[in-house]
Amino acid sequence: MRKPLIAGNWKMFKTTAEAKVFAESFKNIYESSDIQVAICAPFTQLEALKDSFKDTDVKIGAQNMHFADEGAFTGEISAVMLKEIGIYYCIIGHSERRQYFVETDGIVNKKLHKAFAVGITPIMCVGETLEQRDVDKAFEVVKTQLMGGLKDITTTQAESLVIAYEPVWAIGTGRTASPEQANQMCGFIRDVIEELYNDDVADKVIILYGGSVKPENATEIMNMEEIDGALVGGASLVPEDFIQIVNF
Ligand code: PGA
Repeated sequence: MRKPLIAGNWKMFKTTAEAKVFAESFKNIYESSDIQVAICAPFTQLEALKDSFKDTDVKIGAQNMHFADEGAFTGEISAVMLKEIGIYYCIIGHSERRQYFVETDGIVNKKLHKAFAVGITPIMCVGETLEQRDVDKAFEVVKTQLMGGLKDITTTQAESLVIAYEPVWAIGTGRTASPEQANQMCGFIRDVIEELYNDDVADKVIILYGGSVKPENATEIMNMEEIDGALVGGASLVPEDFIQIVNF
């Protein structure tokens, strides 16, 4: 049985002081259940969040990492550094990183290898643009991203992978994919994983939908058969909104 995962992606929002305020409010309204909750925050807030949530089962994630252990890479943070402070998840290949920081499938692949090597669970993002969907290339694009990103990732590693399907046109736009569209792509992703590995891995991989998930649409999305959870941007910044999604 796959455990549902609701992961917040704070992007470049909140100071450490604001993160602490969030944590206090969220802890007051959060009750542990069989849903895994995670918050992926900017680097400077990770330790404060780890500390705030230390007596809970909320896991803390980063939003990016470098694939080298160390080196002359000004401004970067390595997976080893994240692991040292107890970071559990790392978002890899978010469309904003692909778009603004030229993160290719090859780079995503190197980061996935490193994350698995140090024991950080990657949340690998895939998804098509509106132009690609309009010319019927959505499935092809997502398959290419999966094949490139997962190159030489072993069967054992792939078993603990989290994949987030985030159609670029639905991120931060208020325009969600319909539950059926999201479900169809998540099912397709599971089929590709079965093709690349086997049905056991396909059965274990957690597949999230992301893109304008809000308290109002969370239940509908989470009820879809192929969707195991959500990667939530904007609505994860407000404790009262995020808790409604967690308690979908
Ligand atoms: P959104 O962002 O929920 O604000 O659309 C989702 C994401 O980019 O992960």
